Amino acid sequence: MTIIDGKQTSATIKEEIRQEVIKIKEGGGKTPSLAVIIVGDDGASRTYVHNKMKSCEQVGFLSTVIEYPESIDEATLMAKIDELNKDAEIDGFIVQLPLPKHIDENKVIEAIDPSKDVDGFHPINLGRMMIGLPAFISATPAGIVDLLERYNIETEGKHCVVLGRSNIVGTPVSVLLSRKSKPGNATVTICHSRTKNINEVCLTADILIVAIGQKEFVTGDMVKEGAVVIDVGMHRVKSDLTKSGWKLYGDVKFDEVAPKCSHITPVPGGVGPMTIVSLMKNTLLAMKRRAAE
Ligand code: GUN
Repeated sequence: MTIIDGKQTSATIKEEIRQEVIKIKEGGGKTPSLAVIIVGDDGASRTYVHNKMKSCEQVGFLSTVIEYPESIDEATLMAKIDELNKDAEIDGFIVQLPLPKHIDENKVIEAIDPSKDVDGFHPINLGRMMIGLPAFISATPAGIVDLLERYNIETEGKHCVVLGRSNIVGTPVSVLLSRKSKPGNATVTICHSRTKNINEVCLTADILIVAIGQKEFVTGDMVKEGAVVIDVGMHRVKSDLTKSGWKLYGDVKFDEVAPKCSHITPVPGGVGPMTIVSLMKNTLLAMKRRAAE
C-alpha cells in the first residue's frame, strides 16, 4: 500500500512554480498577484486563507487579503468585486466560501471576471472545462488529477466512483476523469445522498474519490482490495491529542480502509495541500494570459 504524499508533492510543485516566477521576474515580467476576500470569522476559512497567503509568499507571488465582518451587505461585496475585476495589478482573486446566509453565493461567483476567477467557480470556467476548452479548473479537482498523474495511477478504462456531487469537487472531478485525455478515459459513477446501495457501488470502484462531507463515511467493508482511495474530507474536531487542540479527520476511516488499498491519500497531508498548489498554478496562468493579451 502506498500513501499518496500530498504534502511532498505540493512542495515539489511549489518549488517548480517558485523557479518559474524567479525566471519571469529576471526577464522583467510581472509578479503574479492574488487577492482573497474573506467574510466573517469562520475558523476553518481563516486557516485556509492564512495557508493560501503563506503559499503565495513561498512561491514569490504578491498577495492581498480583504477582510469584511459577517454583517457586510451584498452591495459592498459586489462593489469590491467590481474594483478587483478592474484592478490591473491583480491577476486573480477568490472569495472564500462559505459566505453568510444573507449573501447570494452564486451571484457573487458570477460577478467575478472569468479571466480572474482562479478558483474556477464561474459558470464560464466550469462550462469551458466541460467541453474541453482551456479554463481555470477548480483547485480540488485539479489537485486530485495532479496526484493521480504524479503517482502514475492509470485511469483509462478504470471504474471511478465519486461520492458527492458538489459544484466545487464531485461534479468537476467526474468530468475531468471521464474526458478523452490523460488522466481521463475512466468510466465514472457519481453517488450522492439519494443513491441506493452506495456500499455495493463503492465496492466496484477501482478508484474511489470521496467528497461527501461526512466524517469517516467510507469504512473498510466498502472498498475493494487494491483500490485507489482519494479522501477530500476535512473535519476539524476539538481534541486533546494534538498541540493545536484540533484534530483533522477525512471522509474515509483511514485505519480500516488503508490496508485494502493500493494507494490512499491521508488526512491531513493528502488532497488538502494540493488544492492550494492548484490555486497558485491558476494564479500564475492568469498572470501569463493577461501578459499575453
Ligand atoms: N472554501 C472551501 N474551499 C474553498 C475553495 O477552494 N475556494 C474558496 N473560495 N472557498 C473555499
